[in-house]
Amino acid sequence: MTVANHSTTPSTWVETLAAPLKAALQHPWVESIVRLSAVEDSLRALHPMLSLTDVRARVVRIVDETVDTKTFVLQPNALWQGRHGALAGQFVQLRLEIDGRRVERIYSLSSRPGARLIAITVKRQTGGLVSPHLHDHVKVGDVLTISQADGEFVLPAQLPAKILLLSAGSGITPVMAMLRDLQARNYQGDVVFLHVCRNPAELIFAKALQAAADRFPELSLLLHFDDSAGRFTPEALHLAVPDVGERATWMCGPSGFMDAVHRHWRTQGLSTPLHSERFVAIPMLPTTSPGTAVTVMLAHSGAHFVTSGTAPLLMQAEAAGLSPKHGCRIGICRSCQCTKKSGTVENLQTGEISSTPNEQIRLCISVARTDLALDL
Ligand SMILES: Cc1cc2nc3c(=O)[nH]c(=O)nc-3n(C[C@H](O)[C@H](O)[C@H](O)COP(=O)(O)OP(=O)(O)OC[C@H]3O[C@@H](n4cnc5c(N)ncnc54)[C@H](O)[C@@H]3O)c2cc1C
Ligand code: FES
Repeated sequence: MTVANHSTTPSTWVETLAAPLKAALQHPWVESIVRLSAVEDSLRALHPMLSLTDVRARVVRIVDETVDTKTFVLQPNALWQGRHGALAGQFVQLRLEIDGRRVERIYSLSSRPGARLIAITVKRQTGGLVSPHLHDHVKVGDVLTISQADGEFVLPAQLPAKILLLSAGSGITPVMAMLRDLQARNYQGDVVFLHVCRNPAELIFAKALQAAADRFPELSLLLHFDDSAGRFTPEALHLAVPDVGERATWMCGPSGFMDAVHRHWRTQGLSTPLHSERFVAIPMLPTTSPGTAVTVMLAHSGAHFVTSGTAPLLMQAEAAGLSPKHGCRIGICRSCQCTKKSGTVENLQTGEISSTPNEQIRLCISVARTDLALDL
């Protein structure tokens, strides 16, 4: 695996000069003599925080939030742009090598945007690969590789007068960042934070929530514990937040919880915006027309592969021995997004079939319906 334990501060001259150095190394004349990847390998050997291309972040603290959830507090190198650019609710993609296999997973930032140190909060998924690895093997001093912050589940610059932050289980992570952001922005409106979990022992960020409730007068903190109050339902939501229909809402939690709230919004005809983020995929629709062999041309690399349109383009490209950039593999992170120059694709999440030239598609949720040309 690529995490390395290092506690000394790296010199930042490489990081400061990263953009011009990278541009110089990518010049065709220079590239023919010095490969950027070789420079990266040398920098990493010199110090694991040094890179011209990657955000590296040292683990400076690990907090046990509950028995199965830990917060990893990270100090990023100078390539991290999130200090001025990250928005509350966004995520980073964590890249690791476990047993020689390169793996990526997405984690929401639970820290306040603009903070010097950033944090991700990870719940152990039994039988999972990355979350148990982070819990059991990553320690203070290790260096992780992360992406810049990304994602569209964010608070806007112009805040509405009434807000509901609604979460369940580990879905609390992005909305906790939103709560921290509202407090830092000295929000003067009215915010309800309603979190659902089984019992107080499973409450993530218990101390931070209590501190926010004590110091942030605009906040009403509501906690629903299923074990004592019964299963959380949309009716319980209306009882707890009678003016729910007036509140712009940001929600994150398990699929069943979110589906019930979305249904409720529809059946009650609520017109206030309901923004939501999922940690797991929504079920893909069956393809409408599998079986026809089509050719996918990759304009940049000149490669091509043939697909019968039975699985998403990302999987088909991988089966053909290619390695397109990807992250979540479930249509959320946009890492696999590319321009489709021509041809017809079907979106397996919406069922939409589109032949528009030069449109952005996500390889992990799109299947080919005709020959395609992709800008890859
Ligand atoms: C936008 C986004 C933000 C995310 N933010 C966070 C976060 O802040 N904290 C966090 O802990 N996780 C978060 N995740 C989930 C995270 O990316 C991983 O999916 C999770 O840590 C499991 O990875 P794993 O390698 O341990 O399990 P895997 O090896 O990928 O999966 C193992 C098994 O666990 C199931 N599984 C995976 N994830 C979940 C889940 N969340 N709930 C229920 N079952 C699951 C899978 O279906 C599979 O059966 C986020 C995901 C997305 C897409
Ligand atoms: S890999 Fe995340 S959207 Fe496709």
